[in-house]
Amino acid sequence: MRFLKPPILSVLVLSAVHSCFGLTLNSSVSEYDFIVIGGGTAGNVVASRLSENKRYTVLLLEAGVTNEDVLPSIVPFLCGIITPNTPYDWNYTTTPQLGLNGLSVQYPRGRMLGGSSSVNYLAYSRGSSDDFDRYAKLTGDSGWSWNSLQPYFRKNEKLVEPPDNHDTTGQYSPAVHSKKGVTSVSLFGFPQAIDGKLLQTTKDLRAEFPFNLDMNSGNPLGSGWLQSTIDSDGRRSSSATSYLTPSVRARSNLVIRVDSQVTRLLQTGFVNRKPSFKKVEFQHNGKLKTVTARKEVILSAGAIGTPQILLNSGIGDRADLSAVGLKTIVHLPSVGKNLSDHAITSTSYFVNSTETWDSIFRNSTLIDEHLERWSEGKNGPFVTSVVGNQFIWLRLPKTSPLLKNNVDPTAGARSPHFEILPVNGLVNDVLPTSGNFMTILTAVINPVSRGTVKLASSNPLQPPLIDPGLLKEDLDFQIMREAIKSAQRYLAGPAWKNWILAPHRPPVVPNEDQLDAHIRGHSQSIYHPIGSAAMSAKNANYGVADPDLSVKGVAGLRIVDGSVLPRIPSAHPMAAIYAVAERASDIIKAAHI
Ligand SMILES: Cc1cc2nc3c(=O)[nH]c(=O)nc-3n(C[C@H](O)[C@H](O)[C@H](O)COP(=O)(O)OP(=O)(O)OC[C@H]3O[C@@H](n4cnc5c(N)ncnc54)[C@H](O)[C@@H]3O)c2cc1C
Ligand SMILES: *[C@@H]1O[C@H](CO)[C@@H](O)[C@H](O)[C@H]1NC(C)=O
Ligand SMILES: *[C@@H]1O[C@H](CO)[C@@H](O)[C@H](O)[C@H]1NC(C)=O
Ligand SMILES: *[C@@H]1O[C@H](CO)[C@@H](O)[C@H](O)[C@H]1NC(C)=O
Ligand SMILES: *[C@@H]1O[C@H](CO)[C@@H](O)[C@H](O)[C@H]1NC(C)=O
Ligand SMILES: *[C@@H]1O[C@H](CO)[C@@H](O)[C@H](O)[C@H]1NC(C)=O
Repeated sequence: MRFLKPPILSVLVLSAVHSCFGLTLNSSVSEYDFIVIGGGTAGNVVASRLSENKRYTVLLLEAGVTNEDVLPSIVPFLCGIITPNTPYDWNYTTTPQLGLNGLSVQYPRGRMLGGSSSVNYLAYSRGSSDDFDRYAKLTGDSGWSWNSLQPYFRKNEKLVEPPDNHDTTGQYSPAVHSKKGVTSVSLFGFPQAIDGKLLQTTKDLRAEFPFNLDMNSGNPLGSGWLQSTIDSDGRRSSSATSYLTPSVRARSNLVIRVDSQVTRLLQTGFVNRKPSFKKVEFQHNGKLKTVTARKEVILSAGAIGTPQILLNSGIGDRADLSAVGLKTIVHLPSVGKNLSDHAITSTSYFVNSTETWDSIFRNSTLIDEHLERWSEGKNGPFVTSVVGNQFIWLRLPKTSPLLKNNVDPTAGARSPHFEILPVNGLVNDVLPTSGNFMTILTAVINPVSRGTVKLASSNPLQPPLIDPGLLKEDLDFQIMREAIKSAQRYLAGPAWKNWILAPHRPPVVPNEDQLDAHIRGHSQSIYHPIGSAAMSAKNANYGVADPDLSVKGVAGLRIVDGSVLPRIPSAHPMAAIYAVAERASDIIKAAHI
């Protein structure tokens, strides 16, 4: 999401210098019980949980820098400038997208401790109970069901007071939350001028946009107050701040190496007639090194990095590997396939207010003032992300022809087809020198389009080819049209009278053709790639990992990150990935008592 102008970039440059001070390393050790690849959202959970057991030694390898003192990762409002194309991003772009008039779009991924949880927009949403029950069905493992995963959501979540300490009664359901976990989650910490209108619309247009007390109960449908991974002191809570606390970092059995980009896994022989890959090759300071795992290697490099490393190691589809001149060691055709993501389209409006983010975005004096306010009292708008304080999740109407003519892509009746995210300002666009705006982001939440992650060459350091297949299938495109039409009905509600002045982009109220052209020309990703190294049932004839997350046909290698989920959840996926990583840690511990 692009929104801030250059003045703020000075902040980034400063903190980049800071973050060069790495962690204290002892690089002389070359053998560990466990090697976790990728110090991101999931990887830090696994490294932290495994090193609770003093008998295990754990090495965590992260390509990027440390999160410490990286100001744009700490201040929630700066989430929109920490990517794309910064020292904390992999700077990816997609291949030309068939569904987007052949355009390539930016594809940020966090490249620092905390991974994407250090750079994302902080929304905490779990998805629908149907989603997880479908995982259990697809994998044949009831441990992935909604009910079975509840202890793991709770082990991860620590609900805290919002930064502004406002009374949150009636804004969430305490029963579905945990105050005893690790990662801080809070309700909004700064009121926005549109809050009252969002709430009023759930009353005025209740039939289509009902109020949902808590979208994290397993039933996200309706409009509800957003929860975010923000601590009560107004700081981002990432997997790096919450799972790699100073006391965890000080553990003598845990070594964390930043600036360590894994290139390949090297075969070390066979265990039970399965090839094992316990040697990990990585680049540090421009030099290649290797380390070896005694028990297991855990791949947590994310939905792009994990399939890339597997392919670099000769684990993948023989046809894909030979296309770049690599030898196949394990023919596993599903590696890098079935990539799934949420496409978003932005539509924007001129509004009759000066109380929008635009007034901040274009005023560097004000930015400095708010940053000052944040650093002194941890208050003001910089304690929040830039999205609206309520999100809306909806299904197509039961009578929709799209449901008659297609298999319902959702996992069940509690699962949304699309999401509407109101933003109190202009995002994903070039900010004009005057005017105030509202942006409506609409997202296709259960897409049928699938994409791929493939290697561009046999050079393991070259970025992979990423094709998320955004709006490639017609059903996804049709659902996007319905989402935008629903958003138009939403803004036609009485609460928005005198607020919405005129359409900004598209610049006219679009007819059908104009709407189609707008979708093709103004859509991108909301950066939720999932499923590119997915688990499947133990005896399935497709899939990359078994339900215990071990790679099929390989010994001593597991996948723990967003790539392993067999379907994209009806959610912004961070919360689901945390729960997966918590359960995975228990599975791994139980396998090595
Ligand atoms: C800009 C943005 C905004 C988002 N907003 C939200 C949101 O508001 N809410 C939400 O729920 N989700 C959001 N997401 C998605 C969410 O953050 C991710 O789905 C989730 O964090 C992914 O977790 P992961 O563990 O799979 O991967 P990551 O957290 O991405 O971790 C992968 C880690 O592995 C490292 N790595 C990769 N390759 C290598 C290698 N070869 N060697 C060593 N290390 C390597 C990476 O640097 C990274 O640290 C957003 C994502 C982005 C990029
Ligand atoms: C690093 O670890 C090795 C093995 O545990 C130990 O022998 C060595 O003294 C350590 N080096 C430093 C600098 O701490
Ligand atoms: C991404 O771009 C930024 C800004 O140009 C640069 O500093 C950084 O090194 C790039 N990251 C990678 C992984 O290439
Ligand atoms: C993609 O997933 C589907 C199940 O959703 C499966 O049938 C198919 O075989 C998978 N494709 C590949 C190449 O793994
Ligand atoms: C920018 O913000 C400052 C501080 O609040 C204010 O005094 C000034 O008028 C603003 N400038 C513009 C152009 O709005
Ligand atoms: C703008 O809002 C004010 C009230 O805040 C109202 O009096 C005025 O009519 C509105 N302008 C338009 C063009 O709707």
